[in-house]
Order: sequence, then C-alpha cells, then structure tokens
Amino acid sequence: MRREAETFLKLIESARRITVLTGAGMSTESGIPDFRSAGGIWTEDMSRMEAMSLDYYERYPKLFWPKFKELFQMKMTGSYQPNAGHLYLADLERQGKEVKVFTQNIDGLHVKAGSRHVYELHGSIQTAACPKCGTRYGLEYILQDEVPRCSRVNEKGRECGLILKTDVVLFGDAVQHFDTLFASLDQSDLLLVIGTSLEVAPVRFVPEEAHGIPGLKKIMINLDETDDDYLFDLVIHRKVAEFVKEING
Ligand code: OAD
Repeated sequence: MRREAETFLKLIESARRITVLTGAGMSTESGIPDFRSAGGIWTEDMSRMEAMSLDYYERYPKLFWPKFKELFQMKMTGSYQPNAGHLYLADLERQGKEVKVFTQNIDGLHVKAGSRHVYELHGSIQTAACPKCGTRYGLEYILQDEVPRCSRVNEKGRECGLILKTDVVLFGDAVQHFDTLFASLDQSDLLLVIGTSLEVAPVRFVPEEAHGIPGLKKIMINLDETDDDYLFDLVIHRKVAEFVKEING
C-alpha cells in the first residue's frame, strides 16, 4: 500500500467526529460531469453560468427551465448510483464515527448511499416550489411539462399557474446550512474535503477557517491541484472511488 494510503487510514482511524465537504468530483465516477475540469459543464460553455443565475430565472423563467433541465440532465437524475466513494463515507458511520456530510452536489447520492447526516449546501434537484404560494413539487411533476407551473387551486377556484422555482441554489441565491458547517468544523477532529476545486464562495473559505482550528486534521482528495492544497495535512491527487477501492483491498 502506498504511503499516502497508510497515512490516510491512520488519520481516519484516530478521528471520532468527521466533517466531510464534497463537490462535483465526488460524483464523476457515477457518470455525472463536474463543472470546471475538461468536459465540465462550465468548461464546455461559460455562458451557461449566466443562465443558471437567479437574475436569469427572474427575467426569463420560460427560457430558464429547458436550459436547466438539459444542463443537469434532469431526466437521468433518478438513475445515477452512488460510487465506492459515497459508500465509503456511509460506512464510516457504521464504524461508529460521527460523520456530517456537507455537499455542493444536488444529485442526492450521499443520501442514496446511506449517509444519515447530509447537508445540501446548493439545494436539491428533486424539488421546486411556487414563488408565490410556496407549494412544493417533486421530480415527477417537474418533468411533466417543459416549464413547470403551480397547479394549486385557490379559494376562488382559480389555478395559481406561476412558473416554479427550482430548489437548486442558483448564482445569486443564498447557500444553505453554512453556519452548521462552521459549527461542525469546531466540533470535529477531522475535515475531509473531496472532489471540489474550492473556487466557489463561500465554500472556498472553509480550508482557511479550518486551518485556524487547533487540533483539527485536514485531508483533501482531489484529482487536480487546488490553490488551497498547502492548508491540508494530507493531499491525495487521485480519483476518490479508485482510491477507496484500493484501501478497502
Ligand atoms: P468543480 O468542477 O469546480 O471541481 C471539481 C473538482 O473535482 C476538480 O478540481 C477535479 O479535479 C476534481 N475531480 C473530478 N473527478 C474527480 C474524482 N473522480 N475524484 C476526485 N476528484 C475529482 O466542482 P465544484 O467544486 O463542486 O454550483 O463546483 C462548485 C459549484 O460550482 C457547484 O456546486 C456548482 C458550480 O457552479 C451550482 O450549480 C449551484
């Protein structure tokens, strides 16, 4: 076994409370492209970022939905499966460790893998809500029409009819659970960051914050280098599922 794998296992073994932060690289081995690598969603076409903003949705909601559904391959959402990396994290809980998973991903794969404490910082692709009455709808309903609308009937017998807003956090929307993430760091003895370029705020402030917490060990598993690698005790430039398969023997 390589030295990095041995060091990794030692750090995991001595940790009781683990905060995990994941990004799109966690799910590439499940067949979902990331954003900023070659072939990534933004790398392929930077103008897509503009369309995935709150501003664009508010101005052009009818144009927003078909683009959104295509970019996130929404019809496929239910068919993606967790990979060895997701399953490894769920397994750590079964070993008696307290594991909190904070993910920038909207694919729901950590929950599907069995992790019990999952915080979706960028929301979820599974639901959308009416901006006026707040009625929430599931994936099946969202997929029925190209542009999903609220079908709630009011007291006067009229249908609300407003175009729904996705529960995915768009550029310009507030990230969720961020306070919980910082509180979790304070209570943890290990931070495990997996598959994120750490380019998007506020998540990119996490390594710096963690660096200032005495006794907190920090591991990064990411295929490419990041600007924050120097803040970690151990950096593994590997594909996460491949790496955990190796350590699981
Ligand atoms: P990025 O695409 O910016 O970064 C993904 C990182 O994962 C890259 O640095 C890759 O090297 C690495 N990577 C790819 N495959 C990997 C693998 N199998 N194992 C380990 N590492 C791998 O994705 P995020 O950092 O998640 O927001 O991007 C953050 C946010 O930017 C996303 O949540 C998205 C986007 O705008 C929304 O859509 C709301």
